[in-house]
Amino acid sequence: MNTTMPNTISGFSKLSKSEKIEWLLDTYFTNKDNARQLIQNYWNTDKKLQKLHDEFIENTITNYYLPLGVAPNFRINDTFYTIPMAIEESSVIAAASKAAKFWLERGGFKAEVISTEKIGQVHFTYDGDNEDLKLYIDTVIKQKFFEDTQSITKSMQNRGGGILNIELKDKTKELENYYQLHATFETLDAMGANFINSCLEQFAQTLKSEAEKSLEGNLDIIMSILSNYVPQCLVRAEVSCKVEDLKSKDIPNPEDFAQKFKQAVTIAEIEPYRAVTHNKGIMNGIDAVVLATGNDFRAVEAGVHAYAAKDGSYTSLTHCSVDDGIFKFWIEIPLALGTVGGLTNLHPLVKLSLEMLQKPTAKDLMKIVAVAGLAQNFGAVKSLTTTGIQEGHMKMHLMNILNQFEATDKEKVTLVEHFKTNVVTHSAVVEALKNIRE
Ligand code: MEV
Repeated sequence: MNTTMPNTISGFSKLSKSEKIEWLLDTYFTNKDNARQLIQNYWNTDKKLQKLHDEFIENTITNYYLPLGVAPNFRINDTFYTIPMAIEESSVIAAASKAAKFWLERGGFKAEVISTEKIGQVHFTYDGDNEDLKLYIDTVIKQKFFEDTQSITKSMQNRGGGILNIELKDKTKELENYYQLHATFETLDAMGANFINSCLEQFAQTLKSEAEKSLEGNLDIIMSILSNYVPQCLVRAEVSCKVEDLKSKDIPNPEDFAQKFKQAVTIAEIEPYRAVTHNKGIMNGIDAVVLATGNDFRAVEAGVHAYAAKDGSYTSLTHCSVDDGIFKFWIEIPLALGTVGGLTNLHPLVKLSLEMLQKPTAKDLMKIVAVAGLAQNFGAVKSLTTTGIQEGHMKMHLMNILNQFEATDKEKVTLVEHFKTNVVTHSAVVEALKNIRE
């Protein structure tokens, strides 16, 4: 026990799983048996499967479940999909499914991959003459970067990918002595993080050792890392139909709806406070599919939001036009995704999700994910500009509140019926529950 820094421990990572849990219980919990039981309740009974999950990360104590749901009826370039979505928020999957069905009957979604280039950088400083450096990199060692990475790039190259270009960027105006090797890559069906980072670290080694031999100034490598900003790894998805064909149960007046919908999208284009929430709704769809397919949603989030701000102010990722009687709604986003490597080969539910999606290539997955984002945004903006979202949302939320209060099946049936004709609010549910329990 460390008395000067209580509740801390050294050597934690070296303890066994059960020793880690016992330390946690001793340190933070008054009802240790309860906490231990809770942790164990979430262990998988299949020991091999549990071990697999334990080993994804460090210091695993148990599993944290997210529901994996599905949104059926997606038509994308005339292929039909049921899209797996891992998400904890109610209403998201319902909205995606509803949007999918709506567009299924109106020609479906069209999607295209515009580009697939990924980026990585070696950041370094050099205090010598910058013309010497430029000349040296372009004429002397650029070729060596390719040669020295051959063992890393060979199999990627055989499949048609690899390093596309390596270029020196002079950043000394922004930061004294600061340069980059800015490299571009094609990583095919792999997200490519390991491939890119390995190439970059080799570039850095080559650069350092060659520069020491031949350059006058002092060259220091600061770091080598891929960029999650991938504006040249772009996908576009779109829906369109005649304005009159928007008519449906929820849209009695399609002309009014189209104009109001477009106005709502324009507001997100010009108003950052709205744009953030608008894009958050898009990410509800995107992250859920990215997660279900074992991809890195933090990388996607960071890259997508940077793209939303690429012209200097944060704006909508989707756009809408109503011209010559045609309603068109589209999204264009950067997505660096993989369908091989990483978790895709390891997590059984990721494998299941990819099989459900008919074993997509990375390009197919880019289209599916972009469509999920567009569908989600269509659902949200349609609700916002017609009924408002709370009605539907609170009905879905009702079940969460009832579970929170451990309602029995009988109580649930009674209260779901009751709230078909009453407004769902947290306090109204608590009150109604109290009434039937009295
Ligand atoms: C809620 O998770 C997402 C929305 O707020 C998105 C939006 O406002 O467009 C409904």
